[in-house]
Amino acid sequence: MKIISFINMKGGVAKTTLSLNVADCLCSRHEQRVLVIDIDPQFNATQCLMSADQYVDHIENQRDTIINIFERGYRPTVGVVDGPEEASPKNLCDINLFEVKENYGLLPGSLDLYRLEMASGEGRENRLKKYLETVENFYDFVVIDTPPTPSIWMTSALISSDYYVIPVKPDPISLTGIDLLYGIIGEKKENYGLNIKCIGLVLTIVEDGTIVFRQAKENLANNDRWKNLVFSRFLPKRTEVARQQLNQQLILTSNNNELKQSLVNITKEFLERIEDDEQGQ
Ligand SMILES: Nc1ncnc2c1ncn2[C@@H]1O[C@H](COP(=O)(O)OP(=O)(O)OP(=O)(O)O)[C@@H](O)[C@H]1O
Ligand SMILES: [Mg+2]
Repeated sequence: MKIISFINMKGGVAKTTLSLNVADCLCSRHEQRVLVIDIDPQFNATQCLMSADQYVDHIENQRDTIINIFERGYRPTVGVVDGPEEASPKNLCDINLFEVKENYGLLPGSLDLYRLEMASGEGRENRLKKYLETVENFYDFVVIDTPPTPSIWMTSALISSDYYVIPVKPDPISLTGIDLLYGIIGEKKENYGLNIKCIGLVLTIVEDGTIVFRQAKENLANNDRWKNLVFSRFLPKRTEVARQQLNQQLILTSNNNELKQSLVNITKEFLERIEDDEQGQ
């Protein structure tokens, strides 16, 4: 089982869009068993994979969200489902997931992550990693959609992951952030003794044919740190991506062949890069 975080401290760069669609492509086109973890308090991945009714059903049926990984015995109450709830301690191996479809699982997110205070050093940042050890035999890939802010949630994702992918928009401001991100991940690696590796940087929400895109590619190609990490395929900007997300429509089921082909190619490259890394070890 390989665990990959999609990460960038810049907001709105398609971390969520890319992570859950690459997960879908791994499942639909490569027969892989995938689990998406929504560790972002904004819970956009969950909104893209579950309807509001499905989410309410999930909670009402005492199934779990990311918060149950961090809070043993936690049960959502006010504002999500009514009525008093008995909180009973829960073992990590008893976490109930949501099945998006066959071989595509989701550990849904929760707005309550905003309320959960968690200081680093308490050891709870290791709980996601511990949980993932319990599902080792059930999935081939775990994809973690992370929040855009450095936080205990981002740290938990990094601690759990073998690899990370950086989705980035090809504009000058977005590109300045990737060196900062690289530095912060480097610090975490040192502090926590992590082995996590970058498998690449995917250009997203791309307006092909623009000067900005051409310059971004040139800058990356001339940068020693990034030149070999840039995926040769990118995700083009297409309005249907944004329009169809809240209807739980994934790119592979859209009518836009160009979008589909980009996703298929990005996923292929994603697999190749992981395979190359494994062979190089
Ligand atoms: N290829 C695309 N074409 C057009 N719009 C896109 C594309 N990919 C993503 N978007 C839109 O851009 C916005 C940001 O995408 P997304 O939520 O995936 O980014 P994010 O990096 O996860 O954001 P956040 O930092 O808030 O978590 C969304 O409205 C999404 O629908
Ligand atoms: Mg997101």
